[in-house]
Amino acid sequence: MKVLSVTSELYPLIKTGGLADVAGALPLALQHLGVETKTLLPGYPTVLAAVGKTRKLMDLDLLGEQASLLAVKHHGLDILLLHAPTLYDRAGGPYLDTDNRDYPDNWKRFAALSLAGARIAAGLLPDWQPDLVHGHDWQAALTPAYMRYGEALEIPNLMTIHNIAFQGVFGSEIFGELGLPSHAFHEAFEFYGRLSFLKAGLNTTHAITTVSPSYAEEILSSEFGMGLDGVIASRAGDLYGIVNGIDATIWDPSSDVLIAGNYTGSSLKKRVKNREALVSRFNLADDGGPIYCVVSRLTWQKGMDVLVGIIDQLVADGAMLVVLGSGDGPLEGAFLDAAARHSGRVSVTIGYDEPLSHLIQAGSDAILIPSRFEPCGLTQLYGLRYGCVPVVARTGGLKDTVIDANEAALAANVATGIHITPMSQEGLIQALRRANRLFHAGKPWSQMQKNGMKSDVSWGRSAANYLDLYERLLLKGQ
Ligand code: ADP
Ligand code: GLC
Repeated sequence: MKVLSVTSELYPLIKTGGLADVAGALPLALQHLGVETKTLLPGYPTVLAAVGKTRKLMDLDLLGEQASLLAVKHHGLDILLLHAPTLYDRAGGPYLDTDNRDYPDNWKRFAALSLAGARIAAGLLPDWQPDLVHGHDWQAALTPAYMRYGEALEIPNLMTIHNIAFQGVFGSEIFGELGLPSHAFHEAFEFYGRLSFLKAGLNTTHAITTVSPSYAEEILSSEFGMGLDGVIASRAGDLYGIVNGIDATIWDPSSDVLIAGNYTGSSLKKRVKNREALVSRFNLADDGGPIYCVVSRLTWQKGMDVLVGIIDQLVADGAMLVVLGSGDGPLEGAFLDAAARHSGRVSVTIGYDEPLSHLIQAGSDAILIPSRFEPCGLTQLYGLRYGCVPVVARTGGLKDTVIDANEAALAANVATGIHITPMSQEGLIQALRRANRLFHAGKPWSQMQKNGMKSDVSWGRSAANYLDLYERLLLKGQ
């Protein structure tokens, strides 16, 4: 089976969040099941620099911009780069300029990506046409729309929602520049007088997946649907929740070269080397209490305002905290203030540092994820794999992947983490006190670590679920 994946991020080339990890790992997992994936990605300057020599396939005009398609293999991935300097040759990140503002032409940058995807689906490449197209998030959401309204009506396609909070909403005046028939506006795009790329994708694709079963249910409600719950409900028959996996070769504590000492579930004692490395790197005054960590975007979604509000209590209760993250300016400031108040007990690193994130997972006792909503979440999966016990809000993929250490789960020896309920400052304080007690009890804690390390967080089962869905869509298409 030949699949075209359309994405705006791809690990290890360009990443702002979990979308990149998923877009990078899923094709590798599907490869073992006989699926051949090509991934279409914008040719951002950092990506072009990282991949080195490419093979030019053709030139094309996309919405009046000159572009070319380049082919390259990188880390086992078969990549098609959309090289369009007027769209992608920018100094900032994939979506934001150096002042953290959206590029004003993001609509065109990602409409062009989607249009290229639709043309490839329609047979643009002389020697390769996909059987199915899989687009990710709003940046790829016009692929099914372009396919529906002309480019490749008959090719099965699906869309994955990684986070319904990001919708690609723009002023309706750009509609005329998308090159679509005018009836498409009311049929698919219109969103409270503006237009939404994600909505257009959801209305025109054959199937919708999201990254955990619980999130698939949640987005049917107005609380989590962010204004698109009605659209989701109208597509409920084509909605699937498939939980993300992780790349278990990149995230493997027994062989990870980014950590200070390798270990497995049966040699947990060796984990201490990583704790020592963390303590010395961040000048922690280690008194044997639990070290909690955060590796996250510092945003409201992630509940970081709730966490920052209880740091004084966390320290008073005898714990330490290591934070790696970046995001909202005021939150970054509040975390830095907390670190200044609690030197030796709280360390805050503002920035994005992939290697450091490995050491933090290996050296901390627990990872805190108090998200208000979480489509899947990957850091709790890395935590499980690294014996870094996840303390998570009971929402979305967090709820689906972490088993709370309640009395029954402890007795049955299946607990893998701690659920925060309710998700509030008080709920978080109570969850952390529960974590403290289990940590100091010793055995129940190491048992939880071992249970987590044994749980299957690889892509195996989830890739098979995607393949199942792909096959069903192909059958339907015939
Ligand atoms: P989201 O995509 O919503 O940000 P996920 O948990 O799905 O949340 O994925 C986040 C990914 O980004 C994980 O791979 C995590 O390790 C990584 N990450 C987040 N912040 C940082 C950071 N400051 N430094 C390094 N990695 C980070
Ligand atoms: C989004 C979500 C996150 C999910 C990731 C990968 O960024 O916020 O929960 O894990 O996509 O699917």
